[in-house]
Amino acid sequence: MKVLILSFSNNIVNEDSYIPNKKGLTLSCVEECEKNLKEIGCETEYICMNKKNVNKCFACGARGWGKCLNEHKCIQKDDFNTIYEYMNNFDAYIFATPVYFKEMSESAKVFFDRLKRCDAFNDNSKIKGKNIICIACAGGSGAGTDETLNSFDTLNYFLKTNMVGRIPITKLNFNEQKEVIKVSVNKLVN
Ligand SMILES: Cc1cc2nc3c(=O)[nH]c(=O)nc-3n(C[C@H](O)[C@H](O)[C@H](O)COP(=O)(O)O)c2cc1C
Repeated sequence: MKVLILSFSNNIVNEDSYIPNKKGLTLSCVEECEKNLKEIGCETEYICMNKKNVNKCFACGARGWGKCLNEHKCIQKDDFNTIYEYMNNFDAYIFATPVYFKEMSESAKVFFDRLKRCDAFNDNSKIKGKNIICIACAGGSGAGTDETLNSFDTLNYFLKTNMVGRIPITKLNFNEQKEVIKVSVNKLVN
């Protein structure tokens, strides 16, 4: 079983974090997922999406659609198509984003905007039906995890994936939520 983890935070260090060594909260969740996956013998790969070049959707064609509707790929020559195709090599996915302004991060928004367009009406989608875990990591007030996870519900609906973990993390509850991460990871691979 191969699991792809996409993270949408650039932060290795987060001075506001309650986690020892001031590690980024999203990165800490990624590492927790990797640890649990390795323990149960899964292959994992982690991509920090903030290091990739993924532009916003230009809604380039007629009536707001581009080639994404029928050809299920984007006309833009950035990293999106490569990552979209690369996702086919995996059996399940974990998406982890920080919460910014009560929403998922900017890099998450642009990527999932384009993923929905290319995949939602793709009858040959290799993402459809696969298990996913979605993680929303909030720092300050902790507000915004609900809104962020609601957006993941929408993504899950359009991709026709199977969300087995829907995890709100705040800087205060990370330690308790480790158990939820573990349970979700087990569901992901079963
Ligand atoms: C631009 C920006 C907006 C933020 N908005 C929120 C917010 O709405 N709610 C919240 O609880 N935290 C908010 N935060 C705090 C982050 O969610 C917090 O730092 C989180 O730990 C980020 O994860 P990271 O450690 O992986 O960077 C915001 C941070 C930034 C930089």
